Amino acid sequence: MGIDVLHDDAYKMLLEAGYSEKAIQYFHAKENIGTIEDADQITKITGPCGDTIKICLNVDDEKVSDAKIQVFGCPGAVASGCAVINLVKGKTLEQARQIDIDVLYKELEKLPDKKIHCARLAVKTLQKTLEDYSKNNNGSHDRVVNESWERN
Ligand code: FES
Repeated sequence: MGIDVLHDDAYKMLLEAGYSEKAIQYFHAKENIGTIEDADQITKITGPCGDTIKICLNVDDEKVSDAKIQVFGCPGAVASGCAVINLVKGKTLEQARQIDIDVLYKELEKLPDKKIHCARLAVKTLQKTLEDYSKNNNGSHDRVVNESWERN
């Protein structure tokens, strides 16, 4: 991904707040935002802050063939969500299950301390989507939607 950052007030504000250039780029590009028609799995989690992340996943041959995200939340959640989708695309289900907060944080390079929970919400939503897929998938690839609320 090229670093094509916003050179405006929003960019300066985010940089001063503690976001890395890479995290700002993820927030700005929003490249993985969207939905997948007839996704194999759709899972949505609302965090304690009230923000919601929804992930659509397609799986072929035990590999994540496509993934999209919708984020109803802050820049930290958007950057984290877009990065987590970038990380999971093309991975086997086993590799995808290894994506944790450390892997995501390494990808984002830096978030403000008070935004770490946003990255956690992105990882939790991804892991819950994978879990729901495994639970719901009976070989028929029926579209299943799961919703949950995190309390912590
Ligand atoms: Fe809720 Fe960022 S403040 S996810």
